[in-house]
Amino acid sequence: MNGGIILATIIALTNQKGGVGKTTTSSALAAGLVSFYNKKVLAIDLDPQGSLGFSLGLDIEDCRSIHDVLTGQALIQEAIQETDYCDVITSNILLSSAELEFTSSDRQFLLKKALQPVVSNYDYIVIDTPPALNILTVNAYACANHLIIPMAPEILSLLGVTQLKETIDSARETLNPQLNVLGIILTKFNKRTLLAREVKEMAENVALQMGTCVFENQIRTSVSVAEAPAHGLSIFDHSPSAKPSEDYKNFIHEVITMTSAEASQEVK
Ligand SMILES: Nc1ncnc2c1ncn2[C@@H]1O[C@H](COP(=O)(O)OP(=O)(O)OP(=O)(O)O)[C@@H](O)[C@H]1O
Ligand SMILES: [Mg+2]
Repeated sequence: MNGGIILATIIALTNQKGGVGKTTTSSALAAGLVSFYNKKVLAIDLDPQGSLGFSLGLDIEDCRSIHDVLTGQALIQEAIQETDYCDVITSNILLSSAELEFTSSDRQFLLKKALQPVVSNYDYIVIDTPPALNILTVNAYACANHLIIPMAPEILSLLGVTQLKETIDSARETLNPQLNVLGIILTKFNKRTLLAREVKEMAENVALQMGTCVFENQIRTSVSVAEAPAHGLSIFDHSPSAKPSEDYKNFIHEVITMTSAEASQEVK
């Protein structure tokens, strides 16, 4: 009996380049889907740096983590923590040994399998990934419906895009034929700089090659973005009038429109 059971839409934020806004965007997306659209959201930190849990106000030590779940030391339900925004599974440095520890033949599907008991409890599952293309990112690609690629306007941020595309293509071929790239989101954006305009153009070319698009909304730069995680608050609660709050809100509207059947619903 599968009638009536709705499975969560799983979105992973990915880019092997560091510091491009994966965690910031994961945190804003998870919090915004709850705050503006009343969605039930589970945020999963798949990065050994553990920043997502921290950003959402959690202590990442002394609790069950995604590492415990993926290594069979805890049930997924035991690792889920409630926050003011959404449910969260934290990560910590132990996850950095995943490449060596995940040795079973189903090593690429550990996250997908772990999620099965809870995937119908949520509208969205948002996964933050490490700045790498490794077994952790592969686990995210194996279970995601959509990938979102944050990109910062630095010339170096375009290096490695070919490798990213190849990894996504190979994941489609071998692990997850349905895997869709929802779009590229430009972060730390300053329209006035020539570089930003050039990078936008390049991102549009990359998007074309990947069969996806660049989100209409870019996320502008503001120091408030760096300050919010230290308070364990979402950018929307910490600095509601800052430019990135407005930009992320519009970006989330795009995400909702592209992924949800009830796209026309009003923002609260
Ligand atoms: N719109 C923005 N304006 C200003 N600073 C930003 C913005 N977005 C992100 N940052 C800052 O850039 C840094 C990197 O962001 P973030 O941690 O989200 O990137 P990341 O891709 O998750 O990095 P890593 O690859 O290390 O996991 C952080 O210090 C963050 O506060
Ligand atoms: Mg990060």
